[in-house]
Amino acid sequence: MARHLITSALPYINGIKHLGNMVGSMLPADVYARYLRQRGHDVLYICATDEHGTPAELAAKEAGLPVDTFCAQQHDAQKAIYDGFELSFDYFGRSSSAENRDITQHFARRLKENGFIEERAIRQVYSLDDERFLPDRYIVGTCPHCGYDKARGDQCENCTRVLDPTDLIDARSAISGSSRLEVRETKHLFLLQSKLQPEVEGWLDSNGSKEWPTLASSIAHKWLTEGLQDRAITRDLEWGVPVPADSWPELAAEGKVFYVWFDAPIEYIGATKEWADADPENRDWKSWWYEADRTVRYTEFMAKDNVPFHTVMFPATQLGTREPWKKVDYVKAFNWLNYYGGKFSTSQRRGVFTDAALELLPADYWRYFLMANAPESDDTSFTWELFTSSVNKDLADTLGNFVNRVLSFSRKRFGDEVPAGREAGEAEAKLGEQIAELLAEYESHLEAMQFRKAAQALRALWSAGNSYLEEKAPWLEIKTNQEGAALTLRTAMNLIRLYSVISEPFIPASARAMREAFDLPGDDARWVTADQARALDAVPAGTPFTVPPVLFAKITEEDLESYRERFGGSEENA
Ligand code: 2FM
Ligand code: ZN
Repeated sequence: MARHLITSALPYINGIKHLGNMVGSMLPADVYARYLRQRGHDVLYICATDEHGTPAELAAKEAGLPVDTFCAQQHDAQKAIYDGFELSFDYFGRSSSAENRDITQHFARRLKENGFIEERAIRQVYSLDDERFLPDRYIVGTCPHCGYDKARGDQCENCTRVLDPTDLIDARSAISGSSRLEVRETKHLFLLQSKLQPEVEGWLDSNGSKEWPTLASSIAHKWLTEGLQDRAITRDLEWGVPVPADSWPELAAEGKVFYVWFDAPIEYIGATKEWADADPENRDWKSWWYEADRTVRYTEFMAKDNVPFHTVMFPATQLGTREPWKKVDYVKAFNWLNYYGGKFSTSQRRGVFTDAALELLPADYWRYFLMANAPESDDTSFTWELFTSSVNKDLADTLGNFVNRVLSFSRKRFGDEVPAGREAGEAEAKLGEQIAELLAEYESHLEAMQFRKAAQALRALWSAGNSYLEEKAPWLEIKTNQEGAALTLRTAMNLIRLYSVISEPFIPASARAMREAFDLPGDDARWVTADQARALDAVPAGTPFTVPPVLFAKITEEDLESYRERFGGSEENA
């Protein structure tokens, strides 16, 4: 038994996430966490909402709410959706917690003591009417390149050019609209990443990063090759982790807070402390994070845009504290899931959002499709056509139909208990071998976090049951050989029981329904060994069973048409 710490990139607070966000971080982390738990490992799966920064302030303003109220509401809304998707977080925290504030401030103090944080004066736009410095995004004006009149101080949304606020024509404050702006000198904290570069390189060379998916290791090395830049880690915002007054009285008095990307990864630790604080007698957060190098294996899940922060900047921050914080052992990074070849977009609400998905169909349908088509080695596309065919073929025809056909037929012909029938024969021995082999393959893909391959192997295990059933054809067999038909059905029921265990990481609700079909005392979803799988005898004759409602309803042509219409899915849309 090993200790596995798992985190998925923290979803930003400013709105409900789409399916692309889900498949690039939280869902694969959940599949992996569930698998490891079933194998008996000690797993801690931590996530949280990422709540600070300008986008949160702006979204709150748009919603007409104080930012803390807005974040609390959005946190609950996201949490409810993740519960709906059955994400099995051990804790889903908030980066605005007191725990994260304390740990973030502690990190900053240590970095200062070790000479990795420095105060530097920079020139920044000050709004006389708002009586504050404005972050670049809080300044709007006319783009000097394309003439768009709502360009932001960091970038023009219209022509996508990167801007400096002083480039804008008729610049004004996005808060008050006031154009009484001036450039003033102000101090900010800089993290001296350039000084930490050699250590980050040394760490990456010795930590097994060569085993990471190329996507993760190549991005990390690219950043290091380009050279780490010192980076401002404070902002003039009202919402954020305050700069601690004991270390920087002047900046604290000015109300400076840390930049969101400074405190967000620290929230992985913060949320673990939140988890421990919720039950201090039984939970110890430090053993997961402090001096845990040899005892804990830490895996992070994220989309590719997050890789630099996790493979270079956060480790640099950790190293600079000169304290033994647990650093990541394995980074599982994902490409993009597209919507008909184009981008999912939160701001344009293009694509399928997690709330709408759950209103349409149960979580297992999405979980299975997304993982079977996870953008692991390349970007992939969501289309309603692909989704429909995957659900109908794999879930409804291959798995669901097998379960219902076997259980209904057996009940009709042999009653409510698993029939006895003949001893297992040659066909069952052959099936057992095949199942054991496929199971080994499935396990190796799960161990390697190769989720598409794992889904393929799982599908092959389901198909093996169908082939066996077709070959033995108990509905014909029963006419001449009652005992033989009973054996076939008992074997098929043992497959159902096996499926209920091994399908759990991908489709937990359906797995539960399959497992609960059998009245087995003290039953749980503990993983099966190859020998158990080969023997196919975990459900003995005489075990009472019930027939669960149809596991997966097929998506009809009319459904498909209505989804396309509602979500604007078509090839032209790309
Ligand atoms: O990209 C994002 O949505 C960020 N909120 C991810 C943060 S991950 C971690 F570092 F907090
Ligand atoms: Zn422009």
